[in-house]
Amino acid sequence: MNASKNGSIFLLDQNTTLCSRRGMIRTLGLTLGASALPSFMSTAMTEVSVDALDHGEKIIPVEEKELIEMQKFIEDCIAANNEANSQEAVKEVLAKSVSNPSSMLKTIGEPTEAGLKIFLRSKDLTIFAASWTPQMNLMPHNHHMWANIGIYTGREDNIIWEQTNDGLNANDVRCLFAGDVATLNTSAIHSVTNPLQRFTGGLHIYGGDFFVTERSQWDPETLEEEPSNGEIIRSIFKEANEQMRRMKID
Ligand SMILES: [Fe+2]
Repeated sequence: MNASKNGSIFLLDQNTTLCSRRGMIRTLGLTLGASALPSFMSTAMTEVSVDALDHGEKIIPVEEKELIEMQKFIEDCIAANNEANSQEAVKEVLAKSVSNPSSMLKTIGEPTEAGLKIFLRSKDLTIFAASWTPQMNLMPHNHHMWANIGIYTGREDNIIWEQTNDGLNANDVRCLFAGDVATLNTSAIHSVTNPLQRFTGGLHIYGGDFFVTERSQWDPETLEEEPSNGEIIRSIFKEANEQMRRMKID
């Protein structure tokens, strides 16, 4: 399966469908045929570790048509990530793209379940669309890499936490509406809420391979730190999607 544009070819190489150590995460996305690399890319960009961790998020398959429509955006993000201030440069690309949220929504599609649609996974950059069901919450967690978030439908409220000698402390709030972009630095800790009675969808971009990085999460009630736990995150996505199904039935 491949899509071509101006002679550059993104390959969806079926041989690079990787599994985590626990066999739970289907690794996705785009890899590039080495013979067809655009000039701004190096072969190193295509290297991803097979050691994807099981962080538990629901992975939603990306359709070829969606990849083709996202190709220019992905290319622009990869090019921006090579600039000196990569996070800021990628943010500009993201801000421009979500400044027309209805267009981005059309490209990615209306969210229908909680999960991640992964458009790019490389050791330097990860791009996915995250969809949150109505009033879905994610507990405080870190990423150990910079992150940019751009909302194309709904609203995402972020609490930014800081680590103090007394534990985690809420430090800042960022309410992101469609068209808004937020940046998180490498050491940021945030929790996420969709406060609406409808889906929220956002593009999330990370300055590294999101899926191989050990991270921490904090219990939402006790704020005790623990290693990222795939079982807990998986149950959050599962419950959110089951709740959604129940709402549709009722
Ligand atoms: Fe996050």
